[in-house]
Amino acid sequence: MKKVGVLTSGGDSPGMNAAIRAAVRTAQTDEIAVVGIRRGYSGLLDEEFTDMDYSSVGGIMEKGGTVLRSSRCEEFKTEEGRARAAEILRNNQIEALIVIGGEGSLSGAKLLMEENGIPVVGIPGTIDNDIAMTDMCIGVDTCLNTCVETIQKLKDTASSHERAFVVEVMGRNSGYVALASGMAVGAEAIIVPELPVDYESIADKIWKERKRGKINCIIVVAEGAASAYTVARHVEHRIGYETRITILGHIQRGGSPTAFDRVLASRMGYASVKSLEREESGIMLALHGGKIVGVSLEKVLSHKKELDMELVEMAKILS
Ligand code: F6P
Repeated sequence: MKKVGVLTSGGDSPGMNAAIRAAVRTAQTDEIAVVGIRRGYSGLLDEEFTDMDYSSVGGIMEKGGTVLRSSRCEEFKTEEGRARAAEILRNNQIEALIVIGGEGSLSGAKLLMEENGIPVVGIPGTIDNDIAMTDMCIGVDTCLNTCVETIQKLKDTASSHERAFVVEVMGRNSGYVALASGMAVGAEAIIVPELPVDYESIADKIWKERKRGKINCIIVVAEGAASAYTVARHVEHRIGYETRITILGHIQRGGSPTAFDRVLASRMGYASVKSLEREESGIMLALHGGKIVGVSLEKVLSHKKELDMELVEMAKILS
């Protein structure tokens, strides 16, 4: 292999730059040229290419977002779009593609390979941690730390004013961010899209805590589970708790990656090049029991990542 392309696609996540840096430096060490493709699949179709080398990725590891920029591309969702992308890659002698992104981006990569024979390797980058077969995706740890830092601040005001706070975190279809950040701040209730909302038992729990003398209350709700306003109304009506709402929004996606995300991304970026050199394609790199392994995209994309019910139970007991 003489030349490889790398792109980031879908929602950005902290650590994507560390993965790009690792892929570029590993490739260059092995005398493989790297083409950075800007703006994900849209940039591929528009031939927004930039040659990358050792020094062009200097100082990017600590940056949030993605220096290659990202997008969600409608044309690439069509077979014609993917065929055109393959032709562009061939015309530019780009022999394989490293795709860093979430489930939609990895699905696109899989189809590009199946329909057009382009070797691809995926790196799971999304704060949602909703990709099957990997313990963690790049960006999740940073996102959780941002959530915890912010919710901790809200707890100060909650205690000072004896209020409840409903905090909405990201996760349209996945409750992982709500569950893990809620656990980490000892939230009284955590509402996730995977489970029905039981306002009765949430109210019971908060009421008991209040009677025990607790002076604050934090409810973490995933954006896809329920409206934060509806949750707040229920808490105020059922318990008479003065309630405020905070929607964390996109601050969860930005920021300098944590050490964990930098190391994870670096390991995956390195492994992406090594896998392609061994002619292993159609895989996603995954974290499994501390090791980085390749799992077929077929397997990854045909499984749904389930929420860990043991964690759900644990969170209820510990709060
Ligand atoms: O998939 C990552 C994610 O941050 C989701 O948690 C969220 O629902 C979505 O992206 C937001 O997307 P956008 O940045 O396009 O509003």
